[in-house]
Amino acid sequence: MSDINTLKTELTNAIEAANDLKALDDVRVSALGKKGAVTALMKTLGGMSPEERQEQGPLLNALKDEIAALISAQETALKKQELDQRLSSETIDITLTARPEQAGKIHPLSQTIDELISIFGAMGFSVAEGPDIEDDWHNFTALNFPPGHPAREMQDTFFLPEDESETDPERAKKLLRTHTSSVQIRHMEEGEPPFKTICFGRTYRSDWDMTHTPMFHQMECLYIDKNVTMAHLKGCLTDFVRAFFKIDDLPVQFRPSFFPFVEPGAEVDIGYYKQGEGIKLGKAPEGQEQKWMEILGAGMVHSNVLKNCGIDPEQYQGFAFGCGIERITMLKYGIPDLRTFFESDTRWLDHYGFSPLNRPNSATGQ
Ligand code: PHE
Repeated sequence: MSDINTLKTELTNAIEAANDLKALDDVRVSALGKKGAVTALMKTLGGMSPEERQEQGPLLNALKDEIAALISAQETALKKQELDQRLSSETIDITLTARPEQAGKIHPLSQTIDELISIFGAMGFSVAEGPDIEDDWHNFTALNFPPGHPAREMQDTFFLPEDESETDPERAKKLLRTHTSSVQIRHMEEGEPPFKTICFGRTYRSDWDMTHTPMFHQMECLYIDKNVTMAHLKGCLTDFVRAFFKIDDLPVQFRPSFFPFVEPGAEVDIGYYKQGEGIKLGKAPEGQEQKWMEILGAGMVHSNVLKNCGIDPEQYQGFAFGCGIERITMLKYGIPDLRTFFESDTRWLDHYGFSPLNRPNSATGQ
């Protein structure tokens, strides 16, 4: 009993005398550490008779708790003291001019993708994804490009080394996808109709000039159901381009065209006219020539494509279209050179990018 009291007085004094955290920790180790005085006393419990232990046990436990509490209180007091000292000795020079703030900007491509998601989301489409590294089956064969067909040469493909672990030659042949139409195939192979999806992604072709880069982005739209017709395609596309360019009477024109994976196929043009040195999208005013520019490829999904994905073309049909995302971004925001999109020049981004807190047409903007 007197041992406990003496030890308690000693330790209490030592804790109070500890005037920095290091000294306090030394006291903690000397009391509660493996070889500490309190720990040593606790060890004597083992050699006591049951009656003695019943009496001493609670006393020792109380001592241990009390010392731990005192140490913790002293620690808090020391930390506060330290902070008070720093606060009174350190000063901040508020006359120094602030460093300029580097606010980031949203890349025009991200902006366009968000706008497209909100336009197509409102029409009930959801977003699908697929890999950049594709095989010959998904990029060509399933899309009704027969092997050796000249249409394969329309897209200057980057081929990759074959995957030797694949037994099926069409799946062994790897390449960088030349269009996002491959995502249509994956989506139809994996799911059950109806399908109503859009997808965005990088696409690759061996090309380089002011309007072509070896990597660019496409958007693909796919709608397959029991009663989908060309009229739905025209309606959906017209609504989309008018909403995107924010021109309610933007003229839209469909020209017959060939893509192996659609029948009938079309190229879609939007109207513009000359204004001064430049051009303006929209209906030409009276007396001015209406001009047209191609912006995307579209059509009714070919029955062979549906069959290749295990879908019965007698029951289901629908449309697809694909569009270069940079192309429509350049047109909407007046960006002249495609290559600048990927140069990561922060001056360019500062000029053409969007403030994250004030974005047109998106969830965070007006
Ligand atoms: N995949 C075509 C291209 O990249 C575009 C397209 C998509 C055309 C869907 C028709 C239907 O040129």
